Amino acid sequence: MKEVSKGFPENFLWGGATAANQLEGGFDEDGKGLSCADMIAHVPKEQRKGGHAMEISSERIEQILAGEIDERFPKRYGVDFYHRYKEDIALFAEMGFKVFRLSIHWSRIFPNGYDEQPNEAGLQFYDNVFDELAKYGIEPLVTLSHYETPLGLTLKYNGWASREVIGHYVKYAETVFKRYKNKVKYWLTFNEINVMLFSPYTGGGILIDKVENKLETTYQALHHQFVASAMVTKLAHEIIPGSQVGCMLARMETYPYSCNPEDIRLAQFENQINLFFTDVHARGKYPNYMARYFAENNVELKFEPGDEEILLAHPVDFISFSYYMTVTKSVDATAEQTAGNLAGGVKNPYLEASDWGWEIDPIGLRVTLNKFWDRYQKPLFIVENGLGAYDKVEEDGSIHDSYRIDYLSKHIAQMKEAIKDGVDLIGFTSWGPIDLVSMSTSEMSKRYGFIYVDLDDEGNGTLARSKKDSFEWYKKVIATNGEQL
Ligand code: BG6
Repeated sequence: MKEVSKGFPENFLWGGATAANQLEGGFDEDGKGLSCADMIAHVPKEQRKGGHAMEISSERIEQILAGEIDERFPKRYGVDFYHRYKEDIALFAEMGFKVFRLSIHWSRIFPNGYDEQPNEAGLQFYDNVFDELAKYGIEPLVTLSHYETPLGLTLKYNGWASREVIGHYVKYAETVFKRYKNKVKYWLTFNEINVMLFSPYTGGGILIDKVENKLETTYQALHHQFVASAMVTKLAHEIIPGSQVGCMLARMETYPYSCNPEDIRLAQFENQINLFFTDVHARGKYPNYMARYFAENNVELKFEPGDEEILLAHPVDFISFSYYMTVTKSVDATAEQTAGNLAGGVKNPYLEASDWGWEIDPIGLRVTLNKFWDRYQKPLFIVENGLGAYDKVEEDGSIHDSYRIDYLSKHIAQMKEAIKDGVDLIGFTSWGPIDLVSMSTSEMSKRYGFIYVDLDDEGNGTLARSKKDSFEWYKKVIATNGEQL
């Protein structure tokens, strides 16, 4: 029998995670084309419907392209990593990062998504970034697609709704695999692939007002992404010997609100809908429970000959996921609802919530890790977790973010418990080690970083970087391999 582990393994990959569209800026520099993220404006809090500003209509896209919309698009500017990557990577190195998760902005490489030739200046930028990381011995973990579908693919094909996009994605992946084969070993195919269910535009560059059956189109687009993911997993293994390819899920463990069997069944159903994605990626086939769901919800998927074979032959090497919250569901329609959780649900009376209403549940992370391990027995990688919070800069420039330290230390403690439970956890990249533009709200004031960036919601600021209290804290966590929290 296996011995009980004492804590984090020696080669554990500690680091931080980012996405090009929230970090880089330089949206129109050196030949980059527009991506879907470049079209998302900042919506002031008072004007937001629900918590999120992620959907967009085809009419609005036309208006933006015609220059008729006078609004700010923060994801075009990020926090200027494009020009400051050396300074930022030096700070990551100072914290002792072993790994840095970043995405390649697809439209930097293929400006329209369907171009014949890649853009050399875009390829060179990531060469520079990977070389800088290598200087410090930091391993890159690269997401191929993090809500960054080239806008050209949306305009020409309505994004991933069309099967045509598979070929363009595979060509893009092959280009970067060949270019970076000596520099990048860890790859993720699609960020939070399930987010397409909440926002087809964000996850798949799909203008949903152009389709008739929203649910069917969404699952068809997801099928295209599954096939594309399997195809590039195969390619990565062929082009880069020893490469490791992972899928990425926004995992939301659903709890039943009570022991009423109806609540239990509801939670089970919600968990199946969420775990469907890792079931396909890890096991290489659609789970039986989805057949009934599709049949009862007017969803008929088109599989091409060979799809089933490629999914089965090329499952992922590891499972990665983001973890921010758990969800609680009840069949009781009168139960009090939560304000902020992405997947809705009722208020869990045992949990506190962040300033954005996301319910904070460190023990839920241990539960999540154990469930994943029980289900798949594949290595696990937490590639996002963290607290989006308001930070206050004191007169002397210091930032005392004890709430962030508290949040992260509780989650890391539960990771350690899960490792002792026998879970094979290979790494942890906290979300936004440097403050960046929020994905869901495009604001700056929702900060996750150990490194503060002087930039506000209106785009004012010097962009200067400074260390928060959590900077030294995380450095110590890494130096002690998770022993001192
Ligand atoms: C994940 C995304 O959903 O959550 C990131 O992969 C995102 O892109 C992160 O930034 C946190 O969400 P938000 O909306 O607080 O930025």
